[in-house]
Amino acid sequence: MRILFTGGSGKAGRHAIAYLLNQGHRVVNVDLTPLDLPGVDNRIADMTDAGQMFDVMHSWAGYDEMEDHRAPPHFEAVVHFAAVPRLLMKSDNECYRINTIGTYNVLDAALKAGVRKVIFASSETTYGICFAGGERRPDYLPIDEDHPVVPEDSYAMSKVTNEVTAQCFQRRSGADIYGLRINNVIEPHEYRANFPAYMANPDLRRRNIFAYIDARDLGQMVQRCLETDGLGYQIFNVANRDHSVNLTTEEIIARYYQGLPAKPMGPRETFYSIKKAEELLGFAPEHNWRMYLDDPREV
Ligand SMILES: NC(=O)c1ccc[n+]([C@@H]2O[C@H](COP(=O)([O-])OP(=O)(O)OC[C@H]3O[C@@H](n4cnc5c(N)ncnc54)[C@H](O)[C@@H]3O)[C@@H](O)[C@H]2O)c1
Repeated sequence: MRILFTGGSGKAGRHAIAYLLNQGHRVVNVDLTPLDLPGVDNRIADMTDAGQMFDVMHSWAGYDEMEDHRAPPHFEAVVHFAAVPRLLMKSDNECYRINTIGTYNVLDAALKAGVRKVIFASSETTYGICFAGGERRPDYLPIDEDHPVVPEDSYAMSKVTNEVTAQCFQRRSGADIYGLRINNVIEPHEYRANFPAYMANPDLRRRNIFAYIDARDLGQMVQRCLETDGLGYQIFNVANRDHSVNLTTEEIIARYYQGLPAKPMGPRETFYSIKKAEELLGFAPEHNWRMYLDDPREV
């Protein structure tokens, strides 16, 4: 497919784009900074400027395309990852403004250009736990997509707003628009760098509901969304299948979640349910932290 990808120079996008290129797609990365990766085409544009978004949505990917076409070919899909990706980076109002206006512009430009598949990055923070003031516990375990969204910070607010915006655009256009409530993204080098600390102190993972998503598996999730048509507006949790700490489900519940309603779960099963993605998309994460660390305690 010919894909326009926003925010592909960032932590998550660079791995997702590598995955998509491997699948044989042509990818134009639209970002404030270019991605230095063979095979990707870059366009520098600010998503908060509607004019720039409308322009890139009708853009040649590279000089080669100008040989074969009188007008630029259409993008078949848009993957929208560009964002201020957490709170405490910019002022709260800038985070909200950039994320919401940017997402509006990307969706508006994509759908008016006739794109029929848009995949956008939402976030685990919509459930209100990650960036809560103080400790907030889930209503029940595991957290699925029906769990209430209860944001209280400007980043999570922007992501909930974006989900509503996307749903409105889907209603009008009838296109497929899938939102990914992505858990904490882990790049390959971060297993050795960060996970020993999580083993020593599981408290560090409480705000992520002890879950994580391998950046390459996130790429697979995007690919599965591209392959699966006809679902209309959908929201999917995205995580790996296991906990990011070396405790069993039972041990984590005893330490952090006593008294919460919980379905029967496997000893390593994530509290961030990906059953919907598994069932509707065939999502099958391939990586987990045990593959990259020496001698973790077997649980
Ligand atoms: N990293 C995580 O753990 C995580 C978890 C849940 C959701 N997400 C979401 O996934 C997406 C990617 O996150 P990331 O960690 O790769 O973030 P990142 O900051 O590493 O990458 C975001 C990219 O967006 C670009 N960008 C920002 N403002 C822009 C603008 N106005 N116009 C064009 N491009 C702009 C940045 O230059 C950057 O390359 C984001 O939407 C984020 O909210 C990330």
